[in-house]
Amino acid sequence: YRSLRVALLGGGSVGSQVARLLIEHGPELAQRVGAELELVGIAVRDVDAKRDVELPRELYTTDAETLILGADVVVELIGGLEPARTLVLQALRSGADVVTANKALLATHGPELFEAAEQVGAQLSYEAAVAGAIPIIRPLRESLAGDRVKRILGIVNGTTNFILDRMDTSGADLDDALAVATELGYAEADPTADIGGYDAAQKAAILASLAFHTTVPIESVHREGITSVTAAQIESARKAGYVVKLLAICERLTDPDTGEEGVSARVYPALVDRRHPLAAVHGANNAVFVEAEAAGSLMFYGAGAGGVETASAVLGDLVAVARRHVVGGPGLAESTHASLPVLEIGKVITRY
Ligand code: NDP
Ligand code: HSE
Repeated sequence: YRSLRVALLGGGSVGSQVARLLIEHGPELAQRVGAELELVGIAVRDVDAKRDVELPRELYTTDAETLILGADVVVELIGGLEPARTLVLQALRSGADVVTANKALLATHGPELFEAAEQVGAQLSYEAAVAGAIPIIRPLRESLAGDRVKRILGIVNGTTNFILDRMDTSGADLDDALAVATELGYAEADPTADIGGYDAAQKAAILASLAFHTTVPIESVHREGITSVTAAQIESARKAGYVVKLLAICERLTDPDTGEEGVSARVYPALVDRRHPLAAVHGANNAVFVEAEAAGSLMFYGAGAGGVETASAVLGDLVAVARRHVVGGPGLAESTHASLPVLEIGKVITRY
C-alpha cells in the first residue's frame, strides 16, 4: 500500500477516540481505502496532560501549523472558531482535504471555508458536525438531493436531551444533570453552548442550508435554550401527555404578509406529543425527522454526542476522502472486506 498522511488537530473526547481507532483498525481501514492511513501526529495544548486514552507519547505536539505541512488529510477536532479557522484554511490552501466535527466553525465561517476548498479542489467533510454518529449530512446532500424537503424537526443536541430526559424521568436538577453530561464527554468545552441552544442553532443553520440548498447564516436562526425550563413545567407537560424537547425546526414557509417563499430555522424547548417518535429519544441520543415531498417522513436516530460515537462519523469521512487519493482503489460503495469469509449458516429462528 501507499501511505496517506493524516494530521489530527485535537486529542480530546473525540480526537483521542479517532486516534485510537485509526491505530487499532489500521490494517482493516487500509484495505478499505487502498492505502495506509498514517497518523503523523496529534496537536494539543498540553503534551503532558493526563489522558483517558493511552496513545504513543511521541504523537503529541503543540505545533499544529508544522503538523499540517505535508499532510494529505487534516482532521480538525479542536473546536471553536480560532485557531480552528486559521488552521483549516491553512490546510485547505496547502491542498489537504479536511474533515471536521466543528459546527461552530461551519455555521460561522462555512462559505469562506467551502470557497477555499473549491479553489484548490480539496474536500471539506463534516458528517460529525450534526448529530454525532448519525449519518444525516450525506443523506441530505446526496440521497435526498432529488427530492424537495418540506420540514426538519431535530433533536440535535445530546447534552440538552440528556438533561431534559433526566429532569423528566428522575426529577433531576438541571445543574446536576449537566455535570454528568460534561463528565461523559457530551458537553462542549463551554457548556453554555449546549444549554443556551447555541450548539443546536449552529446545527440548525447547517441542516437548513443543506436541506433547502441555500445559505442560512447563524444570525438568522431564532434561538432559545433550556435554562429557563423548570421541573414544574416538565411535570405539567407530562400530565398533559407531552414531553419537553429542545427542537431545531427548519422549514420551507410562505410569508403570510408578502406571499414570499423562504426558509425558517429556529431552536427552542417545545412540547412534543408523547406518541411522536421524537418523544422516545432518550439520554444523549439525537434524532432528525425529515419530511420530504416525495419520500414522506424519514427519521434518522442514534448517538448524538460522545467521543467514540462521534469518532465513527469522523472516520467515515476520513475513509471517504482518503479514497479520493487512491487511483484504482476500492470505490466508495463497492469496497469489500475481502478477508472476511461468508459463513454458511442456515436460518435460525431467534429473538431480537
Ligand atoms: P475537547 O475539548 O474534548 O478536545 C479539544 C482538543 O483540542 C484537546 O485535545 C485540546 O488540547 C485541543 N486544543 C484546544 N485548543 C487547542 C489549540 N489552540 N491548539 C492545539 N490543540 C488545541 O473537545 P471534543 O473532542 O469534545 O470536541 C471536538 C470537536 O468535536 C468540537 O468541534 C465539538 O463541537 C465537536 N463534537 C464533539 C462531540 C462530543 O460528543 N464531544 C460530538 C460531535 C461533535 P488539550 O487536550 O491539551 O487540552
Ligand atoms: N455538545 C454537543 C451535544 C456535542 O451535546 O450534542 C455533539 O455535537
